[in-house]
Amino acid sequence: MPAADVRVTRGRDPDAVDRILRALPGWFSVEEAIVEYVADASRLDGYLATVDGETVGVALVDRRFQRLAELALLAVDPAWHRRGVGTELLSQVEADVTADGVSLLQVHTLGPTSQDEGYLQTRAFYTARGFAPLSRRVASWSGPVLLLVKPLG
Ligand SMILES: CC(C)(COP(=O)(O)OP(=O)(O)OC[C@H]1O[C@@H](n2cnc3c(N)ncnc32)[C@H](O)[C@@H]1OP(=O)(O)O)[C@@H](O)C(=O)NCCC(=O)NCCS
Repeated sequence: MPAADVRVTRGRDPDAVDRILRALPGWFSVEEAIVEYVADASRLDGYLATVDGETVGVALVDRRFQRLAELALLAVDPAWHRRGVGTELLSQVEADVTADGVSLLQVHTLGPTSQDEGYLQTRAFYTARGFAPLSRRVASWSGPVLLLVKPLG
């Protein structure tokens, strides 16, 4: 199904976040992290990608700073990977935060020293969508953390 059939709206849906994260055990396997994201879904700016009324993707945006926004979560139901849903969500986030004066979008993900196949694909997505690596650090609890940024506008 082409991206044109995906509808992205602003909205909060913690249950959809819970369902989609639990469908992605290759990326989200730590229970505490899932619970934290579900809690974030009630307080951060939320975006929902729907197809025929079903939520197939979610994004959360943290607006702590005036000129910089953080993509706190981006997740697409695995049945919908590689069909443009992530791109649609990201495009809407970028349009909204740009209109609100933000010039830099950042995202943290698992860094390239990891052999993790899933996050290899995640980094391929962010790179394809214009993000560039900015810094890398090692967090003892979960492996390397990669910070990527994308200039907007
Ligand atoms: C990362 C994710 C959000 C991307 O969403 P998506 O809807 O699958 O991505 P899109 O279909 O919009 O892909 C856009 C482009 O990104 C790149 N890309 C996406 N998935 C890729 C993969 N598995 N391998 C290589 N490139 C990939 C491609 O260039 C693709 O364009 P193309 O299909 O025309 O070649 C989704 O795969 C996902 O939910 N992954 C698991 C959770 C996750 O990693 N979240 C981010 C954590 S920081």
